[in-house]
Amino acid sequence: GDSVGFVGWRGMVGSVLMKRMEEEKDFQQIDPVFFSTSNAGGAAPSFSGVSDTGTLKDAYDIDELAKLPIIVTTQGGDYTKSVHPRLRERGWDGLWIDAASTLRMNDDSVIVLDPVNRDVIDQGLDRGIKDFVGGNCTVSCLLMGLGGLFREGLVDWTTAMTYQAASGGGARHMREVLKGFRDISASVAAELDDPASAILDIDRKALDIQRSGGMDTEQFGVPLAGSLIPWIDADLGNGQSREEWKADAETNKILGLSDEDRVIMDGLCVRIAAMRSHSQALTIKLTDDLPVEEIENIIDRDNEWSRVIPNTKEATMDALTPVAASGTLSIPVGRIRKLAMGPEYISAFTVGDQLLWGAAEPVRRMLAIATG
Ligand code: HSE
Repeated sequence: GDSVGFVGWRGMVGSVLMKRMEEEKDFQQIDPVFFSTSNAGGAAPSFSGVSDTGTLKDAYDIDELAKLPIIVTTQGGDYTKSVHPRLRERGWDGLWIDAASTLRMNDDSVIVLDPVNRDVIDQGLDRGIKDFVGGNCTVSCLLMGLGGLFREGLVDWTTAMTYQAASGGGARHMREVLKGFRDISASVAAELDDPASAILDIDRKALDIQRSGGMDTEQFGVPLAGSLIPWIDADLGNGQSREEWKADAETNKILGLSDEDRVIMDGLCVRIAAMRSHSQALTIKLTDDLPVEEIENIIDRDNEWSRVIPNTKEATMDALTPVAASGTLSIPVGRIRKLAMGPEYISAFTVGDQLLWGAAEPVRRMLAIATG
């Protein structure tokens, strides 16, 4: 098989990627070479299907990297920023498959989400494109869920109001949220165990610790446990966050839409204290007054992972939550109904595992396409 270099395999997204590659027996198709930014010379990891991987190579050794026809990185944007240009300047023309956002909007990169844009990927490979980048997690999860409507040209515009999990920030962010819950509940432990205690006392004590400055907020800046943060990623200075900007830019690039076919997307991105599944509440203006059943059929049959959840309270509570979706590749889409604004306006709610379809899975599948 092809030799494939892996950088960042030990991190959170990288670990999910390695696990999925083991499950899908992807290692049988390739000869993996493992790199490290901190432990070159140490023993390479062993994954099922990998035999004798030797020692870790230095992830900043450009000559070593340049020996490989394919490099897969989940090391993060700073690594890409530092290493990718040097490799290209050196004349390396291998495939660079990346989970970070650094190269996403470059003219000579393709954003990969093959169940939605296999045609764009294949055209890119034919045209000699060498940089293939996974999309933003909310964008990928949204398109896996509702791609059918977009691909059939049925979306005039859409807004996404997001409920994004801590994992989008990283592993330390997930720990910080759980520690936050622990610290808050510890501060009211006695009262919680006493059913006769006054709820307003508990509430005041919980707020006191959230406001005390004593909680660990190193990652998120403010307490997320028991709260939320309606801003994700950089402040673009025009009132929009970078995360909000990405929705429109990346969706249109993934779908390969020309200027006149562009779908307008905008919304408001919110961090909540969920662990690893992002949710999105959508308002969609369709180009046509379609019956709800037809809309549901288009969504359901678009790909094998999107799954329509009946718009009932029971089904919603059972299947349309981060707890239900986490750890699975399924993308439930529910709360589909016509809105009071008119027959072309629908609501929908979708949930997706931010580490699977939101990060590792599109990258894993791109590698499989490249080595298949
Ligand atoms: N920017 C996303 C988030 C991460 O913070 O949730 C994945 O694209």
